[in-house]
Amino acid sequence: MDISNLFDLDGKVAVVTGGGDGIGKCVCETLAAAGAKVVVSDLSAEKAAATVADITASGGTAVSTVCNVLAEDDLVRLIDFTVTTFGTVNILVNNAGMGGGGRENPMMIDRAYVERIYAINVFAPWQLAKLAAPHMQRSGYGSIINITSMSSINNDPNMAIYGSSKAALNHMASNLAHDYGPMGIRVNCVGPGATRTKALESVLTPEIEERMLAHTPIHRLGNVSDIAGAVLYFAAPISAWVSGQTLMVNGGGVQTLD
Ligand SMILES: NC(=O)c1ccc[n+]([C@@H]2O[C@H](COP(=O)([O-])OP(=O)(O)OC[C@H]3O[C@@H](n4cnc5c(N)ncnc54)[C@H](O)[C@@H]3O)[C@@H](O)[C@H]2O)c1
Repeated sequence: MDISNLFDLDGKVAVVTGGGDGIGKCVCETLAAAGAKVVVSDLSAEKAAATVADITASGGTAVSTVCNVLAEDDLVRLIDFTVTTFGTVNILVNNAGMGGGGRENPMMIDRAYVERIYAINVFAPWQLAKLAAPHMQRSGYGSIINITSMSSINNDPNMAIYGSSKAALNHMASNLAHDYGPMGIRVNCVGPGATRTKALESVLTPEIEERMLAHTPIHRLGNVSDIAGAVLYFAAPISAWVSGQTLMVNGGGVQTLD
């Protein structure tokens, strides 16, 4: 039995949001290593270009573009750019996200904050999926992967907006799987536990880390490659009959800030 083609993305076109750093950067590098042509998009032109430079240095194919997922025009431009550059879209990774960090005291935040978190974590993934779907259908291969969070199923203090937005993302994916399945498009989510990125480091203290590890059977925090591996699974033909799922990648445990 030859299993090498089950993870082969040769000839596939992938677009990733927030690909300039952290999980998104590793996802771009992993998809490129599997053979995909990757559009690395990020709020920061410099960071997106740095990811492309790393991919190119390793022999992969990638281009960068600026996309602020909070700006509707940027989302339209991102899919147009991808199709103009590489001909289609096969894989969409909705990675850019924000919120949480245990800083969401419900009495201290305002409606504008809530709208911003939902705009980046829910509205943008919905809109990019809608924009990409016709291209995926025409190409005969479509996989949409949303980066959600363990916060979508945990119940913690000061996490109501981030947690509920990521829960909405999970539920949207399992429902969109019904809408897009007949078009040949799969929709899944990967939910990281505490994963070493700049975003996590900004809230991590030795005390918090110790508490997290006490509840993590695989006794370490996550690395970005742990998350990218799960994204590769959902992007590749090996998961051809898997849709509407959320896979938590968390060392078998629960890591919370409080
Ligand atoms: N790191 C964790 O522990 C963890 C845990 C659970 C879920 N997540 C989720 O993983 C995803 C990535 O998180 P990370 O830790 O890698 O973050 P990160 O801060 O390390 O990187 C985020 C990247 O997104 C870009 N970005 C920020 N705002 C953007 C915008 N409006 N439009 C486009 N790009 C933007 C940044 O420039 C940066 O390159 C997020 O959806 C986050 O909610 C992370």
